[in-house]
Order: sequence, then structure tokens, then C-alpha cells
Amino acid sequence: MDLTHRPRRLRQDRVRGLVSETSLEPSDFIAPVFVDATTDERQPIESMPGHERVPIGESVARVEEVLETGVEAVMLFGIPESKDSEGTRAWADEGVVQEATRLITDETDAYVITDVCLCEYTEHGHCGPLEEELHGEDVAESGPACDPIQTVDNDATLESLERIAISHAEAGADMVAPSGMMDGMVAAIREALDRDGFEHVPIMSYAAKYESAFYGPFRDAADGAPSFGNRRHYQMDPANAREAMREVRLDAEQGADVLMVKPALPYLDIVSEIRREFDHPVAAYNVSGEYAMLHAASQKGWLDLEAVALESLLSIKRAGADLILTYFAEDVAERLSARN
Ligand code: PBG
Repeated sequence: MDLTHRPRRLRQDRVRGLVSETSLEPSDFIAPVFVDATTDERQPIESMPGHERVPIGESVARVEEVLETGVEAVMLFGIPESKDSEGTRAWADEGVVQEATRLITDETDAYVITDVCLCEYTEHGHCGPLEEELHGEDVAESGPACDPIQTVDNDATLESLERIAISHAEAGADMVAPSGMMDGMVAAIREALDRDGFEHVPIMSYAAKYESAFYGPFRDAADGAPSFGNRRHYQMDPANAREAMREVRLDAEQGADVLMVKPALPYLDIVSEIRREFDHPVAAYNVSGEYAMLHAASQKGWLDLEAVALESLLSIKRAGADLILTYFAEDVAERLSARN
């Protein structure tokens, strides 16, 4: 055989590491943490094996567990003690995320990122106050006659998001992450943070967040499922890629520091295109459904969980993500640290 090119030469055991193009580090990961104001005990989340909602008093212990694995950053989600139509508990001084942030930043070195959204705080589970409730029936009926919809009032939501971001920053949050897909959310939050002396707090925007069925387990975990309808009036259509670039460009113009794509695995084309077009750090959110499906298949004995988790995260990084939000953070970081 006259074969000049034999790529297999570089796949031999002792040289693979030298030519490997991508590697994962514990410092790439952000671990989501659920803090629950309605409970005094840790509550396991059935559809997300290994994850729990923890009471405020356990939030420091929970974050210390994360730090022990080598992961340095957490993303906090809150389950409030009560909900209302506007989600007012989301910006309460003594709200669940605010309390937990204060405790965690006082007592640990974790880098604390907070999710800035309203869906866990509104009775109806949408990511902002509804137009109809704010302005009466007229608005809902003024839409196309055949399709009267109740939808979130974009500009009223911006005011709430500003309050939430400020209250998180006041509690000590290191970074805020608006996830509601409201138009203008990054500009509104940037302006509010700067006005109140938080110009050093970066914004990680869920810039291209799709209306995805892969959020199912999270909605159980955070009790944030919409009580009617869906989120397609604000989250993106999975069919669209160019629209994602437009969304991302708008967020970059408004001052986003980190650009996120969510979910991760079904949208690696978007991750990779943002990586090519922008110089910002790119984050990808390996969401609850991506985690749950690997667990479910491995429980059936159909997949090797450790191997597929690692391969998934490696692929997300290879596609161009610098930061990965993932429920596998602790498990994978632990294994990476053990390897060194
Ligand atoms: C909204 C929010 C959601 C997730 C993170 N932030 C849910 C949604 O949009 O329904 C989902 C994360 C996951 O599925 O892991 N605040």
C-alpha cells in the first residue's frame, strides 16, 4: 500500500494527548443550584438525579460541595415562598436568591451568578407580567382577531428585571444572567446597574434562548412551568438560526459581557457560529432535559453515563463554548481533578 497520509499514526496512546485540540477544566463549568424558600429540608429532584432543592440555610453547605469538586462558579435559581401576578418576590430584599447570595458570598469564595427572570415568581409561570392583567381585556383583544393571545408585557417586564438585577447586585451577586428573552433586557439592566454603582457587575445574557421542550425537568425543579400556553411569544423558534445571530448582536450592542446559547447540544451550530462572529466569551447551557435523558438511558443500561456526559461537554466546548452551565459540573469536575 502506498499511503502517505495515515491519520491513525497520531491516534496512538502516547501521542493522543499531545495532539488533542480540546480539553475540559473544572473552571469551565458553572453549577446550577436551586434554593427553595418553601422547605426546611433538602428535596431531591426526581427527574434530575443527584440534584436537590435546598433550603436557604443549606445554601452555603450546598455551594461548598460544589467548590470541593473544583468548580468555582454557581448559578442560583430561587423558589420563592409565595407568588403573585407580577412576581414581586423576585426583587424582594429578603427574597430567596437575595438571602442565599448574601450568605454564599459572605462565607465562600464561589463566583455567584444569579438568574434574572420572573417565571418562578409569577402565579401564571410566565417570564413577566401579562398584558391583559396590566391593561385589561382590550389589549388581548386588539391582536389579530383570530388569535387573541395573552402575552407578557415586554416593557413592563424590563422595569421588573432592573429591580431584580439591582437587588441581586446589592446582595453581592458577582454576575447577573437575564433569561427572560425580553427585547431590550440587557440595555435596561446595564443602565440600572451603572446608575446604582454596579458598573463592575457583568451581564451574561441568555442571548439565544430557544423555546425548547428540553426544559421540562427544570420546570418541575423550579416550579416554573407556565400555567397556560407556552413561551413561544418570547423564546426563540428552534427552526431559526439567523434570528439567533440577530438576537445575539442586539445583546452585544446593549453591552452583554457573555453571550449564552440555550439549550446546548441541539444548538451547537449556533454556538459555533457565535464563536466565529463575536469576540465575547460564549456560554452554553446544557439544560435539564439533556441531563435527564442521559441519566434515564444509563439507568436502563443503554448508555455509559460517565462517558456520554464527558463526550457531551467536550463537544460543547469543541463547538466554541468557553463556559458551560451543566448539571454534570460536579461529577465531571471531580473526575477531571482525580485524573490530574
Ligand atoms: C427561566 C429559566 C429556565 C431554565 C433556566 N432559566 C426555564 C424556562 O425557560 O422554562 C431552564 C434550565 C434547564 O432546563 O436546565 N428562568
